[in-house]
Parts: sequence; C-alpha cells; structure tokens
Amino acid sequence: MNIQENILIAPYTTFKIGGPARFFCAVATEDGLVEAVRYAKGEGLPFLVIGGGSNLLFSDSGYAGLIIKNEIMGRTFTDDGTLYSVVDAFAGEDWENLVRETVEKDLFGIENLSAIPGKVGASPVQNIGAYGAEVSKVIVSVRVLDTSTMQFVELSQLDCKFSYRDSIFKHEKGHYIVTRVRFRLCKLGELNIEYGALQKYFVEKDMTKPSLKEVRDAVIEIRKSKLPDWTMWGTAGSYFKNPVIEAARFADLRSEYPELPGFVEHDGRVKVSLGYILDKICNAKGLSVGNVSVYEKQALVLVAKPGATATEVLNLANELMRLVKEKTGIVIEGEVEWAVA
Ligand code: EPU
Repeated sequence: MNIQENILIAPYTTFKIGGPARFFCAVATEDGLVEAVRYAKGEGLPFLVIGGGSNLLFSDSGYAGLIIKNEIMGRTFTDDGTLYSVVDAFAGEDWENLVRETVEKDLFGIENLSAIPGKVGASPVQNIGAYGAEVSKVIVSVRVLDTSTMQFVELSQLDCKFSYRDSIFKHEKGHYIVTRVRFRLCKLGELNIEYGALQKYFVEKDMTKPSLKEVRDAVIEIRKSKLPDWTMWGTAGSYFKNPVIEAARFADLRSEYPELPGFVEHDGRVKVSLGYILDKICNAKGLSVGNVSVYEKQALVLVAKPGATATEVLNLANELMRLVKEKTGIVIEGEVEWAVA
C-alpha cells in the first residue's frame, strides 16, 4: 500500500477545488481497500473513499485524514437465460464506459443515464437519476465492505433504502464502502422517453420510434446543451436536490407561478423544479461570488473558474438558499456532499 502525504485533492474532483489531503492512497483490489481502512482505523484517522470526485466539495484547507481512491476495476456480463443479463461492475469502473457498453450490447435500463460523470461505485450512493430513470430500478444488489465488522457483505436493493438521490450509504457515512454493483438489464426492454426534454427532442426530429442507441445519443446531446463541460469547468452538476413538498404547498405556489413544473411522487408529495425556481422566480442566473457562478443555461448548476475556492461555492450556495426561502418559503438541500475532516 502506497500511502502518500499532503496530496492536493482539487485534481481528484470535478469541482477542481480542495486543499491537501493529509494522507492519500489509491486501491485497486478489495484486499488493498481493507488494508487502507485498517491503516486509517489504526492511526485513528478519519477516512473517505472517493471515486470520480464528481459530487464532492472539499474544503480549501483540505482533508485531515486519509482519502482512499477506489480504483477497483472489472466488469462481467452474464446472460441468465431469461430476458435479462446480469452485469457485475466494480466500483472503480467509469460509469459512462459501462453505459456505452450496455447499449452496444443491446441491453436496456441505463441508457437514460448516459454521460454522467463519475464511477460505478457512486451510482448507488447517489441513486443517480436523469431523464426519467433512476439507477436503483436496475440494481439487484451492492457488494460492500462493512467497516464496522471488516467483512464484505451483499446488500439487496431493499437494504439500500433507495429514494430520490438518496440511499443508506448517505445516512451511514463511512459504514459501508461499495466495491461492486450488480445490475439486471433487459434484453428486450422498453424505452423510457416520457421525460419532457426527451419527448421534445424526438418530436422536433420527427422520430416516433427511436432505437436504444438513439435514446442514448439524444440524452448525450441534451446534456451537452444544458450542462457545462466538466473537463473544462469546475462543476459538480446540480448543486442542490429538487425539493419535495406537500401537495397543498405546491398548489399555493402554482397559483402564484402557474408554470412551475412539479412531479407527483408515489407518496402524493410533489417534486418541484428548483432550476425553474432559481431561474424564473429568483432570477439567479448571472449571480456569482468570486470565481463561482450560477450556470447561465441551468440555474441548478454552479460553475467554478480556475482559482475558485470552496468558500466561494458555499457563499454562493448560501445566498441561493436564502433567496429560495425568501421567495417560496422552501428550505433547499445540497446534492453535493461537503467533505470535511
Ligand atoms: N428550468 C428552468 N431554468 C433553469 C433550469 C431548469 O426553467 O435554469 C426548468 C426546465 O425548463 C424544466 C425544469 O426546470 O422545465 C427541470 O429542468 P431539467 O430538465 O434540466 O432538470 P432538473 O430537475 O433541473 C434534474 C437532475 C439532473 C438531470 C436532469 C435531467 C436533480 C438534482 N438534477 O435536473 O441531474 O440531469 O434532471 O433528468 O435531480 C445532477 O444530479 O448533477 C444532474 C445534472
């Protein structure tokens, strides 16, 4: 195990922000992961496992513990003789590579999740979702290191307690480390093109029966037009979660803002589009603090120029939270994890 000291974290995150990690190591095997966690525990250090760093904001003063970069690779496809194929992908695999390969193999289920930055290991943590799809729908189980017992266990889909951008992994921080995700993808699946932006795309192109590959291409194109290129800009995509509010509260807001988009959840509450609130109600596009600004094409996204600091991100985020509270009474929550030790 090669533990390095004082390693700048910024290059390991898509925000490109963060001071030095006191200790840093990359692990390529499950044994390596066990060794790294044992080291941190033995030294009494806080530890944090990262993948692509695409949903994390580190402090400018860095991380006073051990950062473990999960680089455990490998993926297998097993045709189970039914309509489905079982895909096992280790946590360090690139998410987008996996999606591309599943579509090449004509497997349905994660095509709407194309072009999302990050690694496979983060997909259940965040329960990544886009264009009407959520990864939890196709996850069978998740193999994790239970850091309290130091045993590997397989958590079922139910054990993971998935909901919108949420899972057990977010609530029991550091308890479980994801090493592999098992997906079940359909060989003759149905495409899901109900989401507004996708529907509009296919109507405009006059495509009534798009193929699997065409849906993936559409998602990639729509994302390109709405989201910043994270290879150029510092960003973590949506900075906040869309708030889920009571139906009566939504009705009140709708009487004031008739075009406010809302989606009824299974419990009757309504998920409202914070991008719309920030943009059309709070006029947030164009707001900035230092080198960090609200993205001109999607108000839910913050972009950071070179030299940006975590403090600038937090100050801008706080200002947006304040504005949303003032205009709508809604208390919003970050989607990006604030990683501090
Ligand atoms: N809208 C505006 N102005 C804006 C942004 C959005 O009016 O500046 C309106 C749109 O016109 C649309 C609605 O708000 O009617 C929703 O916008 P969009 O379809 O872009 O989706 P979103 O709810 O803002 C979510 C995810 C994204 C995902 C898209 C597409 C969250 C927190 N974000 O954004 O995920 O790509 O849906 O499915 O749920 C991410 O998590 O980092 C991310 C990019």
